[in-house]
Amino acid sequence: EQKQYFSEQLLIWYGRHKRDLPWRQNKNPYYIWISEVMLQQTRVDTVIPYFHRFIEQFPTVKALAEAPEEQVLKAWEGLGYYSRARNLQSAVREVHERYGGQVPNEKAEISSLKGVGPYTSGAILSIAYNKPEPAVDGNVMRVLSRYFLIEEDIMKPSTRVRMEALAKDLIPEGTAGDFNQALMELGAMVCTPRSPHCLTCPVMVQCAAREEGMEEALPIKKKA
Ligand code: ADE
Repeated sequence: EQKQYFSEQLLIWYGRHKRDLPWRQNKNPYYIWISEVMLQQTRVDTVIPYFHRFIEQFPTVKALAEAPEEQVLKAWEGLGYYSRARNLQSAVREVHERYGGQVPNEKAEISSLKGVGPYTSGAILSIAYNKPEPAVDGNVMRVLSRYFLIEEDIMKPSTRVRMEALAKDLIPEGTAGDFNQALMELGAMVCTPRSPHCLTCPVMVQCAAREEGMEEALPIKKKA
């Protein structure tokens, strides 16, 4: 059926076409966390050198927890949205103090950390711990709204809730980390906001938006 086809083809495509990105080299939860926070409002190409420098300068939870805030903000310079860096350090300090430096692998604990919303918690739990949690960002909502022809406003919280349930339901057993990254990768490389590259898409033949000629019209995003 449409869902199973999607998940299977997407994973095959990802295995062949995934980019070799620095945060895909190992599953250290602390590194995954840093990469996901950096990637939230910043492009992959910009993030790469910052990610390398940051983990060199602060290689462990302990190192980041104990660093002076100015030093962390200095390392963040140029990435923008400095509250991300402040929240990250304050959450890392909590992990250092409360969890002995181990990034929690339970949703309730990780979600209680400063700056860790549903997307970031899902990304860490799935990528670092392979837990079957969804990680729905703008890329993922675009892919799902097109493939399943979901015409709800993605600015509405109820739409996100629906997308999260769908994204979770799509994860094949034991593949959460790869599957979530495959969804992000498809959104970034193929199912782009404008002029999507449908002819290279692994799931084109079952894409409902493509069938209706609606791919460029989706997702629907009304003004907040
Ligand atoms: N954007 C957000 N998370 C990402 C990841 N893990 N890989 C590539 N792009 C991303």
